[in-house]
Amino acid sequence: MSEHKRRIEFGDFQTPDGLALAVCRRLAVLGIRPDVVIEPTCGVGAFVRAAAEAFPDARQILGFETNGAYLEILRTKLASTRNPDRIHLEHADFFTTDWRGKLSDIRGSVLVVGNFPWVTNAVQGAIGGSNLPEKSNFLAHRGFDAISGKANFDISEWMLLEVLRWFEGRSGDVAMLVKTAVARKVLAHAQRQGAAVRDAFLIGIDAKKEFGASVDACLLVMRFTTDQSLACHDYTIFSDLEDRVGRRVGHRFGLTVGDLDAFEASAHLVGASPQKWRSGVKHDASAIMEFTRTERGLENGLGELVELEPDYLYPLLKGSDIGSAKAWRGKYVLVTQRRVGEATAGIREAAPLTWAYLECHGAQLDARGSTIYAKNPRFSIFGIGDYAFQPWKIAICALYKRLRFRLVGPIDGRRVMFDDTVYYLSFDTEEEAVATLAMIESEPARGLLSSLIFWDEKRPVKTSILNVLDWTKLDGAACRQPALF
Ligand SMILES: C[S@@+](CC[C@H](N)C(=O)[O-])C[C@H]1O[C@@H](n2cnc3c(N)ncnc32)[C@H](O)[C@@H]1O
Repeated sequence: MSEHKRRIEFGDFQTPDGLALAVCRRLAVLGIRPDVVIEPTCGVGAFVRAAAEAFPDARQILGFETNGAYLEILRTKLASTRNPDRIHLEHADFFTTDWRGKLSDIRGSVLVVGNFPWVTNAVQGAIGGSNLPEKSNFLAHRGFDAISGKANFDISEWMLLEVLRWFEGRSGDVAMLVKTAVARKVLAHAQRQGAAVRDAFLIGIDAKKEFGASVDACLLVMRFTTDQSLACHDYTIFSDLEDRVGRRVGHRFGLTVGDLDAFEASAHLVGASPQKWRSGVKHDASAIMEFTRTERGLENGLGELVELEPDYLYPLLKGSDIGSAKAWRGKYVLVTQRRVGEATAGIREAAPLTWAYLECHGAQLDARGSTIYAKNPRFSIFGIGDYAFQPWKIAICALYKRLRFRLVGPIDGRRVMFDDTVYYLSFDTEEEAVATLAMIESEPARGLLSSLIFWDEKRPVKTSILNVLDWTKLDGAACRQPALF
């Protein structure tokens, strides 16, 4: 096996010594005083040595690793460590080790610390790797997960879920460097299972600097208790190992709350949005369905000059325009229906040039991937309904990392459309839209929404979040003058 493939299969990113020591020192500051430390995939042992330094009172430090050569390197390094007799190393495969048997021999408080392999089942599948739990049918998740959007299942997640089981009926701590997305899933799992976690922390790590990996990573710390009455599924997020303030995160009313203090100040606004937030037009064919007005005329995304009746053309503001507060850039979108599933054949009569254009690009439009197109009239689009044709709108881009709402009125007397990275409300009158915007932008409303948004996500602004703000529960909040396109 090539060295490259081995590194991928075993998710082999050794933790720098400085980081491992900083982590263990922070654990000590958090009050973690283990009797026994376990590093289940210890590699060349950064955490084994850091634990020896940071936890002088630990009775035993146990390191396990599947790569025998790494254990040899670690043994050499340990020669100069203080009190090496309490350190025991074992050549072991995580997936076949009898952890429960090992743990039953251990008395006192256990800390499981380290950095599990950084690899997903999808990558394992792609390189033909076999470093997977044997009986878990791990790869079989792929078919189902591809549909449910969970195709990339991290092996570290599986390992962490296994570690959680070690703490059933036992107090102690887990501290693992993981992708932040994995940490969140594991915390949610622990809550679902009613695990006796009494406190948890998610401490930001600069994975680019430490591992050369462009991924959002953190140190996940979970503190387990044997007293179920102390179980609490709130946790604190710290921006980095130096941050001592942090912000509390938890679940309330079935919502994940990113800032419990801010949430509690605005919790009275939680309810059902008086109007459902919608997403913009979806057509999956921007080169054909979107146009720019240039000096030459109307141009599609293929660079073709086209002539179309105005009937089905609407000014378009894309997510980037809304997110960055740009003025309209002369873009248009072809809106072939007024509601989902409406027959499109009438376009032939009403606008022959438009129909000819659609037919000319019919092959590409027919080839649009999603099955929803196949089940609907030819040239169908989605994200459309009466609401799309109301003149006044309040819009926000789902992808931008700030809570910026824009008031959008008609352009050149035409209703404005958005792409499907935009969420919006619509109104018949400017007055209604302005009054609603003032309420949505009020301090308490922003506080509530901000407390529910996780800005490190790819699509941080979600309709599931926007739709819980009931602005009618506001009591005369101070309003700002909105910006208008
Ligand atoms: C991301 S590295 C981290 C190593 C070490 N924990 C550290 O923090 O420096 C992952 C380690 O897991 C080891 N590993 C991968 N699969 C394993 C398995 N099935 N059982 C035990 N160790 C494994 C790799 O050899 C590698 O040393």
